[in-house]
Parts: sequence; structure tokens; C-alpha cells
Amino acid sequence: MSDRTFRRLGVVGGGVIGAGVAHLFAQSGHAVTLVDAAQGALDTARANIAGNARMYRMLDKALPDREVVLGNLTFTTDLMALAEADFVIENITENVAAKAEVHAEIDAMVGAEVPVAANTSAIPITRIAGFGAYPERVIGMHFMNPPPVMPMVEIIRGTHSSDTALGAGAALVAQAGKQSILVNDSPGFVTNRVMMLMVNEAMFLVHEGVAGVQEVDRLFKTCFGHKMGPLETADLIGLDTVKLSLDILYDEFNDPKYRPCPLLKRLVYAGQTGRKAGRGFHHY
Ligand SMILES: NC(=O)c1ccc[n+]([C@@H]2O[C@H](COP(=O)([O-])OP(=O)(O)OC[C@H]3O[C@@H](n4cnc5c(N)ncnc54)[C@H](O)[C@@H]3O)[C@@H](O)[C@H]2O)c1
Repeated sequence: MSDRTFRRLGVVGGGVIGAGVAHLFAQSGHAVTLVDAAQGALDTARANIAGNARMYRMLDKALPDREVVLGNLTFTTDLMALAEADFVIENITENVAAKAEVHAEIDAMVGAEVPVAANTSAIPITRIAGFGAYPERVIGMHFMNPPPVMPMVEIIRGTHSSDTALGAGAALVAQAGKQSILVNDSPGFVTNRVMMLMVNEAMFLVHEGVAGVQEVDRLFKTCFGHKMGPLETADLIGLDTVKLSLDILYDEFNDPKYRPCPLLKRLVYAGQTGRKAGRGFHHY
């Protein structure tokens, strides 16, 4: 399956993760159209991709030059540009109503045979698939941040996902030199159902004064060999996205264990959304 060729990938949503997804596939030689509703997000995405491409190449000379990566990318606010895509990856804000709208729009732009992957932290893929006319072409592709660096993609089979669409997703991931693991649909899938609870509980420890931010992160890194502490991880994801993901898990499971920590809410209200804002639990 991995010799399947893709003419052009459409990546919708160019925020923290969408820009990284576009970078990953441009780096592996695919033509990528990155669509975002906000021109400012596209400008930031281009600048971040340029900076990261330079840094990744310094660390690994086998990677293409920054100009090659940028040359494979087209940046646009026009969703109509998706008409040329033969695989679409949607990465817009973690909001069910927004996803519903954009999936209906994507449906109108691309042929029924084109696979559409939803990159979401917690929304069930079967729920997203129900927003479009072709639920069999919708799969979940949960990328880890930053996608060009992380070796694994969690692929999710929704109730109606076809083997053809799932196979195309796995082939695409393999072409970018990454591994994938296929799991069944559930809110938060495997990774985030556990990880969101863990980072939220770490926030409660700080909120209750049990330990400070540095101490919590250092304990996880030193005791368990984690590369990043839970609060650094939350900052990297984006605290707004963490809160939205917890809201969805809370709503989907009707289980109070997913209630977002008040300290998380306060940081989001203050615009201190983590690394992308220069400030969250840590300063950047
Ligand atoms: N941040 C992570 O580590 C991470 C990892 C895996 C999956 N995700 C998921 O990926 C999605 C995006 O997360 P993010 O952290 O990049 O969020 P973000 O807030 O950084 O970026 C979202 C982008 O979507 C754009 N957007 C919103 N509505 C749009 C529309 N209708 N059409 C086009 N663009 C639109 C926004 O302008 C913004 O640039 C979410 O569903 C999130 O749960 C995030």
C-alpha cells in the first residue's frame, strides 16, 4: 500500500499541529496545500516551518533543505484550493461545531473517493464522520507534536471508516518515514484518554499547592525518565487545546474525572496558552 502515490495533500488548519503536519509531508517530498481561515496563522506557520526546517536539517543532514520544504508548500485562505487534493487532513480548532461546518465544506470541495482524516485530540471520529455525506472516507489521524520529530501517528477507525481510507492513511504515514498504530474509536482514543487526565491531575497538584510547576515536571522526568514533564507537555500542546479536549472528554463520558482544573481555565482566560503564547505554566 505504501507505494500508493498522492498527487497533492490538503491540510486544513495551520495552527500548532496543522503547520507541523504540513511540514512533515512537505519534508517527505509531497506537494501540500495548507489552508487556514486566518492569514496571520498562515504567516506564523510559514515562519515556524522555515525556522524548524533549518534546525532539523542541522541535526539531520539527510533532511531536505529549507527551500525545498517551502517549495513543496502552498499557503492559502481559500478552501477551494482543496479541489486538487487527493488526501485531506483536517486540523482546525478542537470545537465540535467548527469541525461540523468545515467537514461539510470539505465534502463540497473534494471528490467522494478522497480520504479525509480528522486530526483531533478527543472528538470521536464517528461523530465527525456524521457531519459529512461520505462517512466511509473519514478516518482519524492523531499526530503528536511536533509531527516532523515524533515517530508515531495514532490512526483511528470510526464505525464507518473504510479499509481503503485507513490503508491510504497508513501508506501516507509510512511514506513520511513514520509508524502508525490502528485503534478503534473512543473519545480521546488511546493516547489522550490517559494523557489529558494525567496533565489535568498535574495541574491540580500545582493548584492545591502540593508542589510547584518545576518540581512536578522534574519529578516526572527524573523518576520516570519522561522527556518532558506533564506541565511542559500541556504547554507544548497549547492550554486552550488541552481545555477544549478535557471539555469534550467530560461531555462524551459524562464523567467528572475529566473536569478541567480551575488553574487551567484561569490561564486560558488570561491568554497564557503555553509555548505558542510565550507563557503558560512555564515562560518561553
Ligand atoms: N496541539 C497539539 O499538540 C495537537 C496534537 C494532535 C491533535 N491536535 C488537534 O488538532 C486540532 C488543531 O489543534 P491546534 O493545537 O493546532 O490548534 P490551534 O488553535 O493552534 O490552531 C487551529 C487553527 O485552525 C484554524 N481554523 C479554525 N477554524 C477554521 C476553519 N473553519 N477553516 C480553516 N482554518 C480554521 C485557526 O485559524 C487556527 O490557525 C485540534 O482538533 C486539536 O485537538 C492538536
